Amino acid sequence: MHHRSLKHFPPGFFWGGSTSAYQVEGAWNEDGKGPSVIDMGTRVPNTADFKVTSDHYHHVDEDVALFAELGLKAYRFSIAWTRIIPDGDGEINEKGIAFYNRLIDALIAHNIEPIVTMYHFDLPHALALKGGWYNRDTIDAFERYARVIFQAFGDRVRYWLTINEQNMMILHGDALGTTNSVDTHNPYKSIYQQNHHMLVAQAKAMILCHELLPNAKIGPAPNIVSVYPATSKPEDIIAADNFAAIRNWLYLDMAVYGRYNTIAWNFMQELDCTPVIEPGDMTILKHANPDFVAFNYYSSATVQASVSGEDARNSTGDQQIVVGESGVYRGTSNPNLEKNEFGWEIDPVGFRSTLRQIYDRYQLPLIVTENGLGAFDKLEADDTVQDPYRIAYLKAHIEQMQLAITDGVEVFGYCPWSAIDLVSTHQGCAKRYGFIYVNRDESDLKDLRRIRKQSFFWYQNLIRTNGADLVESGD
Ligand code: BG6
Repeated sequence: MHHRSLKHFPPGFFWGGSTSAYQVEGAWNEDGKGPSVIDMGTRVPNTADFKVTSDHYHHVDEDVALFAELGLKAYRFSIAWTRIIPDGDGEINEKGIAFYNRLIDALIAHNIEPIVTMYHFDLPHALALKGGWYNRDTIDAFERYARVIFQAFGDRVRYWLTINEQNMMILHGDALGTTNSVDTHNPYKSIYQQNHHMLVAQAKAMILCHELLPNAKIGPAPNIVSVYPATSKPEDIIAADNFAAIRNWLYLDMAVYGRYNTIAWNFMQELDCTPVIEPGDMTILKHANPDFVAFNYYSSATVQASVSGEDARNSTGDQQIVVGESGVYRGTSNPNLEKNEFGWEIDPVGFRSTLRQIYDRYQLPLIVTENGLGAFDKLEADDTVQDPYRIAYLKAHIEQMQLAITDGVEVFGYCPWSAIDLVSTHQGCAKRYGFIYVNRDESDLKDLRRIRKQSFFWYQNLIRTNGADLVESGD
């Protein structure tokens, strides 16, 4: 759609930055923190583990000062459940509460809005030993954890995100190390049972948040992308509908409307993996009303029809590279798009389309909680990092976001991944995303020095002008 003029970013727009606890904090076993499934998981050989990461735990004041210098209006981070309740459902660890109090207070002192993810992949290991999300008791543990953090931080935190990328945990649990199949005969059965329990836990947390914190806002944070058919063949269109339902709408239809998406439900029926729904679950799901939809976006997805009986899961995709499902959809690449160094397709226009689709479907304000480019940044001899490729990626996406806003989509924030370098979910710390370089490599912690990248200054200027300088401040 052509627009005669573009709408401005709204006043008070949350230009932010994102991280997650296990990827940035380090201090994995300090001050009473319990182990999470990430701490106990296996790592890809020769990549960094999550013990120290960017050592944000010990650099918190310095990092927040840098975020303030960058000009961030919001900082989206996650709380490590195991810092607050080390075994997931037992004693509360006051030192864990103290750490987040310190972080939140520092943010507020710098006029940076804290946006808190309650759970970002790092389930307490002690709960995993009891069956993890397969065990219904984990719902109660999550609700109790929610109560603890709402009571501890709700006087200052106004924006809450429930579960980061639940859909990726379900679709790529093996890659993320977060879902263990309990039923080996039909792994889908246990995976979609875990999914159901997470959905109920999320609903309970949203209800509780509204009860305890009437002025706070809460929403889900899945990874949502436009799904394209590989061709205009009707069968490919159906495949795209299938994947969009299984990947996107299953999660948001439940979070917003409290009902299972029809196509996704039928997919589960075909695979004999519909979850056991206890009496009362659907009432809880129906009564949980998010105030907004948060979502992460890195790339679009393209699929084609899959013939029943074929092995459609024939590639080793990570959480962004689509694989397939026999007779349902088959992932393919999009010849119109370039790829980043890690094989992820780059699709800014798909970002606009994703924003439009989500808003059209749910009519709730949107916030982008992740978007960014992983790359092998290089620290130059003069202590600078030149990352024009990252600026180009972010600029192209922000331009498309502005077009979406002009299309009428209500967007109130954009928090690129990542505010500062951190350890990638499964590709180590050589895959960098931040505006701030952290001087370490996979095995050598060096001095963990913080260095402002070229993109830091670009984003700083963009924020200063509330996005008005998008064109002028380009690379
Ligand atoms: C999202 C996650 O899936 O993508 C982040 O929420 C993750 O935790 C980000 O780091 C980028 O993925 P990766 O694999 O490059 O770290």
